[in-house]
Amino acid sequence: MSNPVREHYEKYPYPSYPLFLLGSWKDLERVDLDRWGLNREARDLWIVGCGSISALMFGRRNPRTRILATDLSSTSLRRLRMRLWLHGVHNVRLEQDDFLNSERVNDFDAIDCYGVLHHIEEPKTGLHKLARALRPGGVLRLMLYSMRARAEIEKLRSRVQALKIANLKTLTAWMDDEEIARLGELSSASGLADALLHPLVHVFDEHKLRELIDSEKTLEVVKLEEKSNFILTMRKNS
Ligand SMILES: C[S@@+](CC[C@H](N)C(=O)[O-])C[C@H]1O[C@@H](n2cnc3c(N)ncnc32)[C@H](O)[C@@H]1O
Repeated sequence: MSNPVREHYEKYPYPSYPLFLLGSWKDLERVDLDRWGLNREARDLWIVGCGSISALMFGRRNPRTRILATDLSSTSLRRLRMRLWLHGVHNVRLEQDDFLNSERVNDFDAIDCYGVLHHIEEPKTGLHKLARALRPGGVLRLMLYSMRARAEIEKLRSRVQALKIANLKTLTAWMDDEEIARLGELSSASGLADALLHPLVHVFDEHKLRELIDSEKTLEVVKLEEKSNFILTMRKNS
């Protein structure tokens, strides 16, 4: 069955990053599972919608954890597999999978779903799947687009959609004509495609976020940051 989100990420794997580059140990603090407030060792981690690099970071920083990294996009997984091989990271298993079809129950101590739930039709259904796959006491990290942080990008994306611009070449030509600066996430091809050519995006304000959180009774929020987008850490009831 056709899936516009999968087709998008087959064409524009995310993020784009030179294959040989490795972040510093300090840069990996945010993916250090010992800092996620889990009251035990994380034996099993699921990275949902892993894209082309995050599993390399988790694998390096958490060498004793068994990691399953899944994504819709075979292109992203191919790049990730190459990175893991190049950098000698062996504790990550990759699978091409739509997590909405997952039947996993109580399988993971930790789940990372960073920048993914806002790209599915019904985020509440996705959150329920993730909660079910967590073990009691396990933690989930979510990143969701904030309406405030995405306001300008979403305005631009609406214009791009109204003009039916569907590829990077036409997009960059249009931006040049309109003198729209390509800064920040708009400065790389994959960032530009992710921001402006994406077929399915939800953005959250406090109310929508609260509705999403309240829809899943087995999870409680232990940390909520809104530096730019929302980053939540949630724990499953024991
Ligand atoms: C914006 S990228 C984020 C990648 C990664 N989490 C990161 O932070 O670098 C979103 C990723 O989610 C994947 N994705 C979207 N919907 C998915 C689904 N239903 N099942 C599995 N992966 C999905 C996409 O293929 C894409 O690689």
